[in-house]
Amino acid sequence: MTVKTMPRRDFLKNLGMIGGSGLLMTSFPWLQTLSASNQKELEGEKARIAIIGTGSRGKFHINNLLQIPNADIVALCDDYKPHLDEAAALCPKAKLYSDYRDVLSSSEVQGVLIAVPLYEHARITIDSLLAGKHVFCEKSMAKTLDECKAMYETYKQSGKVLFIGQQRLFDPKYIKALDMVHSGQLGEIVGLRNFWYRNNDWRRPVPDPSLEEKINWRLYRKYSCGLMTELATHQLQIGTWALKALPDYVMGSGDLIFWKDDNRDVYDSVSVIYHYPNGVKMTFDSIISNKKYGMDEQILGHKGTLELAQGRYFPEEPKPAPGIQQLVNQIEHKIFDNVSFAGPSWVPETASNTKGELVIDHVQTHDGSNTTGAAGDGSEELVAAFCSSVITGKPVPYLVEEAYYSSVLALLGLQAMDEHRIVEFPEEYKIPYNFMNV
Ligand SMILES: NC(=O)c1ccc[n+]([C@@H]2O[C@H](COP(=O)([O-])OP(=O)(O)OC[C@H]3O[C@@H](n4cnc5c(N)ncnc54)[C@H](O)[C@@H]3O)[C@@H](O)[C@H]2O)c1
Repeated sequence: MTVKTMPRRDFLKNLGMIGGSGLLMTSFPWLQTLSASNQKELEGEKARIAIIGTGSRGKFHINNLLQIPNADIVALCDDYKPHLDEAAALCPKAKLYSDYRDVLSSSEVQGVLIAVPLYEHARITIDSLLAGKHVFCEKSMAKTLDECKAMYETYKQSGKVLFIGQQRLFDPKYIKALDMVHSGQLGEIVGLRNFWYRNNDWRRPVPDPSLEEKINWRLYRKYSCGLMTELATHQLQIGTWALKALPDYVMGSGDLIFWKDDNRDVYDSVSVIYHYPNGVKMTFDSIISNKKYGMDEQILGHKGTLELAQGRYFPEEPKPAPGIQQLVNQIEHKIFDNVSFAGPSWVPETASNTKGELVIDHVQTHDGSNTTGAAGDGSEELVAAFCSSVITGKPVPYLVEEAYYSSVLALLGLQAMDEHRIVEFPEEYKIPYNFMNV
């Protein structure tokens, strides 16, 4: 599988920030790693990376890393031989390991990219930081709030680089959209709606029944927190990013309603509400037995709406269509039928059918159905930025904090659903984050 994405030069150009200047760099300081000056400085340098966990996401990253001039994959590690062999075929020169601790004792390895199931994230990340390695760990950060906090604290004490796999932070359409939010184009933000709908059982084929939990770890609470850590984490980050605030409380319901096919114990239907101190609410809904509405994150302002995954903006008062088109629209929507004889005293509250405006010139979209990742979603830029940071040894501002809070929000949502109660944001899980008013 070859992942074809936009070259980094075009990535920055698409955002109008070639050369690394411009206001966007100030609002999104983590993009500095991809600036022309930074890239030039690192020309010819290589980050020596080990991949720990060479399953589907691990291989997706390998394919991206193979296209990145600053990356050198020197080691591969997996405790499941078929996956290790598949990765070895992609990187024939890399050393092979089945125990990650042996990777950590290799002085050749500067940075590790961890793509193992959620329940192993904290242990392997903390051990790696303590062993003096720079770390990229896939999202969600960890399985419990305490583990997330321990990862964050170890990172702060280690002086090493930590990245978490929240690729929206590097997706051009999200960056441009969030810039529109922060510059006030949407007016006051009055709501955020996140949803992720699929229609499949979320299972992977298992070569032998003894490997069921190993392969289908997502379906079991022992290893995973289901839809909240696998899907919601990506979307909940938008709340922190857009509002620069934390919710004061969370409520929700989670159930297993359709895929009662086996002994899975993660919800297949969840609805969560995050309440912010100013009364604004962010929702997350996910069902995996109906895919009609796909996935998106929507930011609602009193002057306009963003559909982030579509890269589209809808002003509340769109420019009027040319006269004839307006007439056709009215006939199609039977607006005349609804107008009373006394005169047009009200307008039907139908949703707007306009297509909106693209937020950048070349929007790459995907439908959210792929469980591995999608081309052009920021993942390649994220690992490229990681390689740059491994070479310079400089942590990138705000990435860990954004990821930490999205994982914490996901876990608080799960707690609210499990305990059938309103969960207040616990003070002990707040971390310093001067990008926002915590
Ligand atoms: N950012 C994204 O968009 C995105 C997309 C897909 C997956 N992910 C994340 O990537 C991670 C991996 O997901 P996946 O779909 O690749 O899972 P997977 O099951 O396909 O791969 C995980 C691999 O880790 C290996 N492994 C497990 N424990 C190990 C250990 N202790 N040491 C070495 N190897 C070990 C397994 O054998 C397996 O090969 C998850 O955290 C998932 O949430 C992120």
